Parts: sequence; structure tokens; C-alpha cells
Amino acid sequence: MTQLPGQYPEYRPRRMRQNEAFRRLIRETRLSAEQLIMPYFVVEGRGVKEAIEAMPGQYRYSPDTLLAELETLVALDVRTVLLFGVPDENEKDEQASAASSAEGILQKTVREIKSRFKDLLVITDVCLCAYTSHGHCGMLSPEGQIDNDASLDRLAETALSHAQAGADIVAPSDMMDGRIRAIRTRLDAAGFKNTAILSYAAKYASAFYGPFREAAHSAPAAGDRCSYQMDPANREEALREIAMDIQEGADMVMVKPALAYLDVLREARERFQFPLAAYAVSGEYSMLKAASERGWVDEKKIVLEMAVSLLRSGANTIVTYHAKDIAFWLKNSQVNHFKEVKTF
Ligand code: PBG
Repeated sequence: MTQLPGQYPEYRPRRMRQNEAFRRLIRETRLSAEQLIMPYFVVEGRGVKEAIEAMPGQYRYSPDTLLAELETLVALDVRTVLLFGVPDENEKDEQASAASSAEGILQKTVREIKSRFKDLLVITDVCLCAYTSHGHCGMLSPEGQIDNDASLDRLAETALSHAQAGADIVAPSDMMDGRIRAIRTRLDAAGFKNTAILSYAAKYASAFYGPFREAAHSAPAAGDRCSYQMDPANREEALREIAMDIQEGADMVMVKPALAYLDVLREARERFQFPLAAYAVSGEYSMLKAASERGWVDEKKIVLEMAVSLLRSGANTIVTYHAKDIAFWLKNSQVNHFKEVKTF
């Protein structure tokens, strides 16, 4: 701080908090629907809207029901979605063949969305875990180890198939080394110079992903993801991962999960002048739902407070399962800030 604030009683910080009009005037961080990215899970079929038990209020949609849902989302001014494909169990194999198929669930869905919504940004999650029979994010060697370099080819092929279907942004979440360059190279070679890459750059091996794995049927059959996702104890390493992905050609980088990693977000903001996203993951959503269903916390207030904390920490963009709710709340809060004045 270059200048110290005045001292009591000349300076009274409460003066600028005396009513909502004052508070709004000096508010440092503002949340708007355009900053939000809404995730969706897509399954095969028609007319499907299947509740995800561990994530109350979230569903697995077939392409047709998703299109209907997107009408509502767009009407609330949320302009960006992140899609996860949930293939049928019998489509899974060792090579994650369905991940890069032009007739895969994600590719079909993206084509349908793009033919209907011209100004909706579509981000696709690029990973193998929902498509491999073993549930790991990369390919396995015959010895059962993650084969990093063999995975790169499959990931690049998958990203390319998403771009061909019309994805605006591809978002690799696998955490293999070198995947950003592999994907950029493959996209450019095929003429997809304008397809952007959102890298899950600092993605931690987190228990907060529990509900997602139920939603996407993507839990590893054996072992865990600690050899590729990051150790929650590490901050310096996150900055190296981010630097590396920027150098390899990422257009946006992400920190994930969000709430337990605000220090990483802040430091990434200060260290890199680069578009930065925070992902409030499934476990963060489910914990809030569980507590608010019991009446222990006020869902709306907590969600808004948490979202603002991510922006304050340095994120430009927030991926959250509450995106639609937040947009609804923002649209429907006509606060009369003079009338609201209460003096205590
Ligand atoms: C796929 C992927 C995961 C998430 C996003 N992409 C699961 C995982 O890594 O196990 C988690 C998202 C969430 O919990 O909301 N690799």
C-alpha cells in the first residue's frame, strides 16, 4: 500500500458502508452472467433428463432435452457452456475409441447445438476417463502404468474431433505432460487455427471431484489419479504447470478446484497476465446443496459470496454448476438500494 488510510476518528471506514448505495459505489468486484460457464453432462438417447443423485438440481441430458435447457440458459444471458460426454458403458474400451469418434455423444451434441445457437460458446471437456474401460484419463501401458506419450495422440485426436464438430474451445482436463502442444499442433495442421484451448493447467488430485465421477461414470476402476493430477500441498508446482501450458499455446488457463485453492488463483493472477478461469467443482456444489437443503446455510447468499471470492482472487471466468442459478438471481434482484437502508 502506498498510502496509509487515515486514522479513527477522522477516518471511519463505516462511513462508506452506511447504505447499499455507498457500498455499490465503491464495490471492487462485480459478478455478471457473461463471466459464467455452465457445465452439462450429455448422454445418448432422446427425451432423457436423468437426475444426478449426488448433485441435486443437475441432470444428464440427451441432445434434444439439452437444447431445450439451453434456451433457458441463454435467456438468462449465460453464453458459455462446458460439455461432458457420458457414453454408454458398452462403448468404453482400452483406447477410448468413442472419445474421438465423429459419431460420439459429444460430437453429435456439439453439431446440434451449433446449428441451433449461433452465439453460444461451446467448450468441450477433452479427456479419456469417461471413455476408457479402466477409467483413467490417459492410456495404460501393458504393465498397467499411464503411458503419457501414447495418451497425447489420443487426446489430440479427440480435441480435433470436437473442433470438427464445431466446438469453439477445447478444454483438456487429463493432466498429461505436453498435451497442450500436441493439441495445438494437431488443430493447426487440420486448419482449426481459431479453435481456442482452455487448459485445466493447475488441476489437483481432489476429493472434491467425487460427485462428478458418479455423474460421468468416470471413476478409475483401480488406483487413483495421483500420478497425473497435482498434489494439493503444492503451489509452486501449479505455477510451473500454468507457465508450461501458456508456453505450449493455451489461450486460457484454469485452476481447479476453486474454493480450497484461492491462493493459487491469486498468485496465478499476479504472476501471469493471462485469461484465468476457476472451476467450482462438483463437491463444492454438492456440499452447498446438502447444507442448504437442511436449512443450515442460505444457498443464494453463499453461492454469490463464493463466486465473488473467485473473482476477487483473480479469476476472470467461473465454471460452476450454479451458473444458471446465479444468472437467475442476478437478473431477478431489483434491489432498491435507498429503501433497503437499515441503521444499526
Ligand atoms: C475429467 C474431469 C473431471 C472433472 C472435470 N473433468 C473428473 C476427474 O478428474 O476425476 C471434475 C469436475 C467436477 O468435479 O465438477 N478428467
